Amino acid sequence: MCGIIGYVGNKSAVQILLDGLIRLEYRGYDSAGIATLADSQFHVLRRVGRVESLINAAGEADMAGHVGIGHTRWATHGVVSEKNAHPHQSFHGLFSITHNGVVENYESIKEFLLARGFTFESETDSEILANLIEYHFNKETDSENRFLKSVQKALFHVRGTYGLAILCRDCADEMVVARKSSPLLIGVGEGEMFVASDVSAIARYTHDIVYLNDGEIARLTPADFSITTLRNESVDVVKCELDWQIEDADRSGYEHYMLKEIFEQPRALENAMRGRFSDDLSTARFGGLRMTIRELRQVDRILFCACGTAWIACLVAEYLIEKYARIPVEVEYASEFRYKNSPLDKNTLVFVISQSGETLDTMAALQEAKRKGFRTLAITNVVGSTIARESDGGIYQHSGPEIGVASTKAFTAQICVAAMLALYLGRIRDMSFEEGVLFVQALHDLPNVVERVLAQKDSIEKIAEKYAHHNDMLFLGRQEMFPIALEGALKLKEISYMHSEGYPAAEMKHGPIALVSEKCPCFFLAPQRSILQKNIANIQEVRSRRAKVIAVATVGSELGEKFVDDLIPIPEVHPALQPIVATIPVQLFAYYVAKFRGCDIDKPRNLAKSVTVE
Ligand code: AGP
Repeated sequence: MCGIIGYVGNKSAVQILLDGLIRLEYRGYDSAGIATLADSQFHVLRRVGRVESLINAAGEADMAGHVGIGHTRWATHGVVSEKNAHPHQSFHGLFSITHNGVVENYESIKEFLLARGFTFESETDSEILANLIEYHFNKETDSENRFLKSVQKALFHVRGTYGLAILCRDCADEMVVARKSSPLLIGVGEGEMFVASDVSAIARYTHDIVYLNDGEIARLTPADFSITTLRNESVDVVKCELDWQIEDADRSGYEHYMLKEIFEQPRALENAMRGRFSDDLSTARFGGLRMTIRELRQVDRILFCACGTAWIACLVAEYLIEKYARIPVEVEYASEFRYKNSPLDKNTLVFVISQSGETLDTMAALQEAKRKGFRTLAITNVVGSTIARESDGGIYQHSGPEIGVASTKAFTAQICVAAMLALYLGRIRDMSFEEGVLFVQALHDLPNVVERVLAQKDSIEKIAEKYAHHNDMLFLGRQEMFPIALEGALKLKEISYMHSEGYPAAEMKHGPIALVSEKCPCFFLAPQRSILQKNIANIQEVRSRRAKVIAVATVGSELGEKFVDDLIPIPEVHPALQPIVATIPVQLFAYYVAKFRGCDIDKPRNLAKSVTVE
């Protein structure tokens, strides 16, 4: 999705804007632009492509001014072009605006404005906002806060979603920002204020953050800020303290953020578990569920909703909670649940999982569940994110910033949290003390086990090189390995662009085996000893059709080189934690295949880190 950065203060704005855009580029990137204001004059620069081309152009341009806005665009309306890049200026050049979101009624507003003499430069829905604000500004008779009032009145007519940062040529040292469904936050500095769509853009300048809520609008000056509703009603300001350093968001010498984040997983797992075990080490504990044990025992069913990799984490949670807590679990795509009107037991607990805490479909599913009176909990990675604030309670992953578009450490942290949740719910129901103690010991050892799998990166790189030329691949696994097969296929698709699909291994016989040939290798996730013979049978079925087979298996198991072409052994580990450990090889495999194929691993084509549109 689009990235927004804004600054008003005592420093030159241009470098702050460009630095912020570099950090936002992973959110969505087909063009970028900045606008600064000095001496009642806008200085605007926009470029197609990466932020780097904008930086190069800025080096030769006069971008004076201590107030400015910047934007990276992920196109929703209008082709990728300089004219469609943000910031957009209003017809008479009075306003400059950056927008993240979709204006659903932009055509009717455009007709209204065209009929009143406004013209348009771009094909975007965002440009109409600049002209609509100018229209209201020209009509506004109350000179006090004329800028803010014009924006409030304009936004009353807008249907859709927006994160906005707006400058007015006649109001130096002032910025107006507004939010509806697209994330926006204020960074509070000393004699300077920042606005951004993602905290990573401003974390180097301040850790004092104020997240805007839907329907809120703020006026920023170097010294202060105020937040109101569109009706000018004041709202309570809730300040958050950022819980990580900007250095955490750097690449730290790794070639790609994705590789760094794959190798951060032992630490991320430790952070997900930190302080979350009982004193007797027989169960987990969470501070943010805001539900009593009695309420949790009354839960008859749990529904998980999410998108993408987070949805796959829900599938793992289903296996684990049903197996260890004996609670029925359903999993729905958030985008489906919000319209499906599923009949749910009244004692259903609804969980959403979202790394960013801003995915629009997941947010909408959460709101739909709340609308129907269900208690909602969230597993998310961003403190103060919309989903974290809108849910009734939840569990933070504490994974640190995940910059690579393809989710890695956030995913394994999510399934680690799911495993701890299954343990916790099991121990308040039927799980024994002894079983709980063994579970906790396995969780304690988990970071070390993951380190041992990461140490195989060179051999996995060699395997990836052998298969990087293929155009198709199947990932196959049984039980809690089926979601990991899906995750392996998703990772490979999204960063190497190789067509790949994940299936339950036995399901392959019911159709997908028609694809199996020497041109379609199969990647088996087969660490479970209890069903090893079943997996071996499936492996033999595909090998008899001359397909190459890669397999992840428990070290020392019967599944050795004689059954497969390439073996990736993983250490023996508690069955509940096998999904986490088996994920590491598929992440590394996808990473190295993408690398051999010369793909842009951190910014895969067409993808964005946080999907805040429908
Ligand atoms: C993961 O590799 C993908 N980039 C994507 O599927 C992601 O998991 C999905 O968009 C959900 O994002 P969220 O966890 O921030 O809600």
